Amino acid sequence: MTDHVRIVEVAARDGLQNEPGFVATADKAELIRRLADCGLRTIEATSFVSPKWVPQLADAEQLFALLPKDDGCRYPVLVPNLKGYERALACGVREVAVFAAASEAFSMRNINASIDESIARFEPVIERAMADGIAVRGYISTVLGCPYQGAVDTADVVRLARTLKDMGCYEISLGDTIGVGTAHAARALVRAVAGEIPMEAIAVHFHDTYGQALANVTACLEAGVRTVDASVSGTGGCPYAKGASGNLATEDLVYALHGMGFATGVDLARLVDTGAWLSRLLGRPSASNVNRAMHHEKP
Ligand code: HMG
Ligand code: MG
Repeated sequence: MTDHVRIVEVAARDGLQNEPGFVATADKAELIRRLADCGLRTIEATSFVSPKWVPQLADAEQLFALLPKDDGCRYPVLVPNLKGYERALACGVREVAVFAAASEAFSMRNINASIDESIARFEPVIERAMADGIAVRGYISTVLGCPYQGAVDTADVVRLARTLKDMGCYEISLGDTIGVGTAHAARALVRAVAGEIPMEAIAVHFHDTYGQALANVTACLEAGVRTVDASVSGTGGCPYAKGASGNLATEDLVYALHGMGFATGVDLARLVDTGAWLSRLLGRPSASNVNRAMHHEKP
């Protein structure tokens, strides 16, 4: 296992999809530009979903047009169906993510489809992407608990991870959508999934509702995970997950990783400035402890 951890920055998507208001397209582009300047190399940009469902990201086309091309960064986007894939492809997107859930009730609330229906919907998307040379990531939501169903069976997560990997996803991100997981459960889940797909193909995605996200990441690093999703300033949540609060803050993740001797390629001071800039833009204090501790500028 290497000592490098790849961070997938999700603030522009998972963060902004959950904002009460619409963030201007130019501000979204500025956020992404600043994140790239911090050294982040995978920056999830937006979602090509139904604008009726997620109006916050209705400007996906306009935003993508403002992003730099060939700057060495990857700008994946979420697509729920072929329509979203075609919109993304028309914009020059090179990487997409499909998103399934381990719980039936959440799947219905989030994408208006059962788990099986969602897999059937992703099949042509992934086939097209393979033919077009577009990389596909697979998300699984509610891996450690569901706001509607409660407990989620590990076997359901493992089976779905195997299915998405077999379909062609290069990586599976395990999402604790409502942030209810704790360290030992997170590590046990990763080990169970790693029994079916390579550890290198597993990413973890924690929301920090109960303040457990960093402990969970640490436990998963011990199990061998080397890809972690995070959101600058701890923005985020899911509009269809009652009670889901912010994602693990990227500043807190980077501080912890560097302290543990992992390389990330991220400039922490710049990241803290970016997090503070975003908090000002959104008009509220940062959810990142590291940001509050390190940012010396007066509010
Ligand atoms: P539906 O209403 O069942 O679909 O929604 P539909 O096919 O009947 O379409 C309804 C309308 O949307 C139609 O328009 C379609 O054309 C349009 P109308 O005829 O009424 O004018 N439409 C689209 N428009 C643009 N782009 C598209 C698209 N698809 C349909 N791609 C659908 C089904 C999947 C579309 C909807 O439920 C949806 O967009 N859901 C998105 C939900 C979402 O983005 N949730 C947040 C992301 S997941 C998450 O945050 C969790 C994660 O972070 C991991 C974790 O934390 O665990 C990833
Ligand atoms: Mg999320």
